[in-house]
Amino acid sequence: MMRPGEDCSLCGLCAGRTNLVLPSGDLASSVVLVGEAPGENEDLQGKPFVGRAGQILNQAMADVGLDREKVMITNTVKCRPPANRDPEKEEMAACRKFLDSELSGRKCIVGLGKSAVKDLLGYVGPMAPVVNTRQYVEIDGERILFIPTYHPMACVYQKVAREKLRETLRMVKEEFGL
Ligand code: URA
Repeated sequence: MMRPGEDCSLCGLCAGRTNLVLPSGDLASSVVLVGEAPGENEDLQGKPFVGRAGQILNQAMADVGLDREKVMITNTVKCRPPANRDPEKEEMAACRKFLDSELSGRKCIVGLGKSAVKDLLGYVGPMAPVVNTRQYVEIDGERILFIPTYHPMACVYQKVAREKLRETLRMVKEEFGL
């Protein structure tokens, strides 16, 4: 797995960085969850999904009995965008080689929310029509199953989204024996 250097300046997000946020969990897992970008807590701790979004993700995983340590968790970009805005196309593109190296050889990628789905699937639009559909993305010349789903933060006030996210996690737990 290729990782950015501590002094990486491939895009402007480096200006606001405390820590790079690199993948966590089982780094050899067949399943990878891809979020959007680090938030404040992630930037301070250097780990993905440790703040509010992480609590919601943890709860959804606990609800379906999927151990967080059995999957790998990462983001489209490794540095926190200012004021938690969405990462820009150029920022995702600059970080893409690192993401590709993280995804290479996996069996399944779960795209958590719009940014991951835009970056990896090239889809921009409402989430509802694509959530929990089976898509394929090509990484290093190999077709990998890609399942779009809701971002944990989209589940805060949305019971339906929360249930769809649980459904995604149930699906991958079952299919990949996690
Ligand atoms: N939201 C994300 O998309 N990723 C994180 O790591 C934290 C919050």
